[in-house]
Amino acid sequence: MIRLQNIEKVYRTDTIETLALNSVSLDVAKGEFLSIMGPSGCGKSTLLNIMGLLDVPSKGSIKIADRVTENLNDKQLAQFRNKTLGFIFQSYHLINDLQVLDNVELPLLYRDTTAKERKMLATEALEKVGLANRVKHFPTQLSGGQRQRVAIARAIVGKPDIILADEPTGNLDSAMGNEIMDILINLNRNEGTTIVMVTHDENMAHKTHRLVRLFDGSQVQ
Ligand SMILES: Nc1ncnc2c1ncn2[C@@H]1O[C@H](COP(=O)(O)OP(=O)(O)O)[C@@H](O)[C@H]1O
Ligand SMILES: [Mg+2]
Repeated sequence: MIRLQNIEKVYRTDTIETLALNSVSLDVAKGEFLSIMGPSGCGKSTLLNIMGLLDVPSKGSIKIADRVTENLNDKQLAQFRNKTLGFIFQSYHLINDLQVLDNVELPLLYRDTTAKERKMLATEALEKVGLANRVKHFPTQLSGGQRQRVAIARAIVGKPDIILADEPTGNLDSAMGNEIMDILINLNRNEGTTIVMVTHDENMAHKTHRLVRLFDGSQVQ
């Protein structure tokens, strides 16, 4: 589902050059649930952003869902990303002045859907994360765990093949973290969604199919 070959990422500013990823090659199979661990600054987010086509590597090639995406223009890229990928971040990234339902509908606005379809799909996604009773709340009226569940609903509303999650339980206590993890595990099992998750938590990582460790931009396991 995801094939990275010899990915290198260098961040350059006027004064410094940071090698964030050093020749990383990684295959993620369809239906796999992979976790990525490693100390702060080792390149985890950079790797996930490259997989999510949010950032481009300095060297190396990427194939997502059997498509080479290098030659797509910005509009095609945005469309491909919107259809194929769902993102979940540590700090939720919800829009605070939109109600829960409207937050979840957002990815569908870039597609050919009617308002009625959007509402139906968003409601369905919120049911899957157990939040059907919070559609009219605003994000600030929810707990951290609930906010992350809204973010998951938004990530899955368009039925993407792949979910990329960057420390999705990082801001949550262990009970809420486990709830989020259970939702991701069920999504992977029941819908066959391929998931790549960055985590600091060994317990969460051990619940996934495979663990990749990064150190200083290189894969060490
Ligand atoms: N936009 C950027 N400009 C310069 N350096 C960056 C940028 N983003 C990340 N880095 C550097 O690249 C390295 C990897 O960062 P990151 O992928 O965010 O690590 P992690 O997610 O593992 O904590 C770090 O040394 C970080 O300082
Ligand atoms: Mg990070």
